[in-house]
Amino acid sequence: MPLVPLPELLSHAGANKYAVGYFESWDVYSLQATVAAAEASNSPVIIGIGGLSCSHEWLQSGGIEIYGAIAASLAARSSVPISTLFNEADSFREAAGGLGAGFNSVMMHTQGWDQDKLLADTASLVAASHAVNVAVEGEIGALAEIKDGVLDAAGASYTSPEAAELFVRETGVDCLAVAVGNVHFVTGSHVPTVQVDLIKQIGEAVNVPLVLHGGSGTPDDQTQRAVQAGITKINVGTKLKFVYGNALVAELGSTVDDPNLAFGSRFEADVNSRAGVALAKEIQRLMDVFGSTGQAKR
Ligand code: 13P
Repeated sequence: MPLVPLPELLSHAGANKYAVGYFESWDVYSLQATVAAAEASNSPVIIGIGGLSCSHEWLQSGGIEIYGAIAASLAARSSVPISTLFNEADSFREAAGGLGAGFNSVMMHTQGWDQDKLLADTASLVAASHAVNVAVEGEIGALAEIKDGVLDAAGASYTSPEAAELFVRETGVDCLAVAVGNVHFVTGSHVPTVQVDLIKQIGEAVNVPLVLHGGSGTPDDQTQRAVQAGITKINVGTKLKFVYGNALVAELGSTVDDPNLAFGSRFEADVNSRAGVALAKEIQRLMDVFGSTGQAKR
């Protein structure tokens, strides 16, 4: 199936009251496991990589093109609808590197930017992206995050419906990431409280799909209430690396018997393939929570 435009995926999700997962990858195995999970669950999915979890120097010296090509190739071979996202670029320049590289959607991490730069750079990215049929996710408001195991809410601010309306009108973004109590990079016991009423108010103020970042820390019941309130895309990162990393550690044990089989063989003994199976299982579980399971059949 060819790449499906992100707005098309999200409008089907909105009409049918589910959310499409963006399961952030970090290598070929994790990208493949994500697509395998989507196929096994008959679910649409968004695949890609993100600038918050990867060296910008590496991304800007070929990384964007390498992963964009792999993601686009996986999408083209897949039997389910897939969009590819270059997530959370650090600047207009870095995000523009995703255009023509295999991603059909891009996003900048703009938290903390001043309003003029935010509006101008986002509008410029929308113009450049739409010219080559790439969608843009914008964000307004700033998430708290877990840093060194502790909640850091110093720069955090909720998305106001008025600011969201102005931002969408001025920039023309295709979907909007909101800060509604969701928290980035939750690794421990912190439980965020997602403000469902605020999601509804923002949804009434704007005419684009809404996105919830920080999917790792949001409990399943809150996630489902957020979807019912109007969220149609959910980003998950940290939790996936936990699942994969722990599976990898368990598979590796203390010695490697046959390195040729253990690494890159794609046979039964390939430890990364085995960790990928654990990763796909967790992604399928999340697809059930998001309601996207079975939604690939239209
Ligand atoms: P988590 O790592 O908290 O799941 O957040 C992922 C994310 O929002 C990427 O954009």
